[in-house]
Amino acid sequence: MVGADDAHDADPATYDRHRELKRFDDSKAGVKGLADSGVARLPRFFLRPPEDIAADRPGPGPAAPAALEIPVIDLGSLAAGGRPAAVARVLEAAREVGFFQVVNHGIPEGVLAEVLAAGRAFHELPAEVKAGYYSREAGRRVKFTSNFDLYESKHANWRDTMFCVMGPEPLDPLELPPVCRDMMMEYSKQVKALGNTLFELLSEALGLKPDHLVKMDCAKGHALLCHYYPACPEPDLTMGTTKHSDPDFLTILLQDHIGGLQIYYRDQWVDVPPVAGALVVNIGDLLQLISNDIFKSVWHRVLASHVGPRLSMACFFTLHLYPSTRMYGPIKEILSEDRPALYREISLREFVTYYDSKGLDGTSALTHFRLAK
Ligand code: OGA
Ligand code: NI
Repeated sequence: MVGADDAHDADPATYDRHRELKRFDDSKAGVKGLADSGVARLPRFFLRPPEDIAADRPGPGPAAPAALEIPVIDLGSLAAGGRPAAVARVLEAAREVGFFQVVNHGIPEGVLAEVLAAGRAFHELPAEVKAGYYSREAGRRVKFTSNFDLYESKHANWRDTMFCVMGPEPLDPLELPPVCRDMMMEYSKQVKALGNTLFELLSEALGLKPDHLVKMDCAKGHALLCHYYPACPEPDLTMGTTKHSDPDFLTILLQDHIGGLQIYYRDQWVDVPPVAGALVVNIGDLLQLISNDIFKSVWHRVLASHVGPRLSMACFFTLHLYPSTRMYGPIKEILSEDRPALYREISLREFVTYYDSKGLDGTSALTHFRLAK
């Protein structure tokens, strides 16, 4: 366990960062283990560099305009003539903000509450039981990890994650921890169905046939990431999740009532407020690439907080671990002389390898695949 000698006033001359990271990793107890041990000060490797903190302060210019409100889109009347209006709102939100919330999406509130409770039950298992699932192995379908980019990132995040690849090859439920097995399987089924609906709306928003994105295998695979953000003793000095954009086509995020998720919009951070019963939807890097920048994959982050734990369940639509050889580039049907392709074609493997090698470093992986002007 990380000891008091690693508090942030540790002597820089003798501080061995890699050793401290390794010690934390070897504990297999994650951030929750640290929080439970009662640390009052953060180990040094959680500290945001001063230049990151400085970048958050408002500049000397005029006061920021009134903050954006994240669009909330009602999916309740798609079958009853509400479809064109929903498509128009999805287009506007995906193009302008990259984030929206959906209500009346068909997943009962009870299921949302229960899957978060199941995820919490996993994270709150006795440390020795949870340690059995701790892994950094790239090929594992079910694993518990703290900070997938622990050794690559500038600083660690105050967050633990249970990661489960649910499809396209069906996951044997027995691979899931018993405390959350049934609910993860149930939620996976329901969120996949919602994903299909959203990809249809997004296809129509691009002026394509409803099944276009599904036929490109955008909805074929998904992973569930259950994040646990323990209460943090010094939230201003670290982050729950460093700013990033998502390495997938689309993310459907279920967050609890605590808040802390923010998106970067027109040079300022805007809260994505918890809305009871709603799900947060955001465009991932791969959908920005194939939509040739019509849809935006935007920066977002999660603040650490004195209040916790905060739970969230992210569903990433992508073909993680699946040996797809399909190449993805800007969709031909939306290109024209005025709108030439902005990206080269890539395989999903190439994208994920690059994203993971970089870690959450505050830059966009997409830049790497952009064609020179
Ligand atoms: C993510 C993410 C936000 C949250 O998993 O990529 O941005 O609220 N999660 O946990
Ligand atoms: Ni994200």
